[in-house]
Amino acid sequence: MALVGASTSLLGNHAVAANNQIVKLSKVKVGGTYSFQLTNGAPALLFRTKTGVFAYQTICTHEGGLAKYFAPRKLLVCAVHNASFDPFKKGKVVAGPANKPLPIVKVAIKGEWIVLA
Ligand code: FES
Repeated sequence: MALVGASTSLLGNHAVAANNQIVKLSKVKVGGTYSFQLTNGAPALLFRTKTGVFAYQTICTHEGGLAKYFAPRKLLVCAVHNASFDPFKKGKVVAGPANKPLPIVKVAIKGEWIVLA
């Protein structure tokens, strides 16, 4: 059984291409999200809104759990100790033991692509 690439596929992440391209703009609908992996291996989540794109590294700032997007509440939530972060307010902590916001990943729209800025 081949396990090559299993770690990224299990997380549903896509690695950023060497030229900083994350995903084609047309692949992320307005109101949608896209999981990707930073070049240092950290997981990240991108949001596209009517006004543009933004993204966060999704390693919890408490003790390093993985924060996942919970769309019904529009929050990124870490399952380890339930810290919650508001992606629409610069990743600020809204609940739980974390005391720092999620790190922002600078992204931009460049032509047909969403790229690392
Ligand atoms: S590691 Fe995320 S809340 Fe503790």
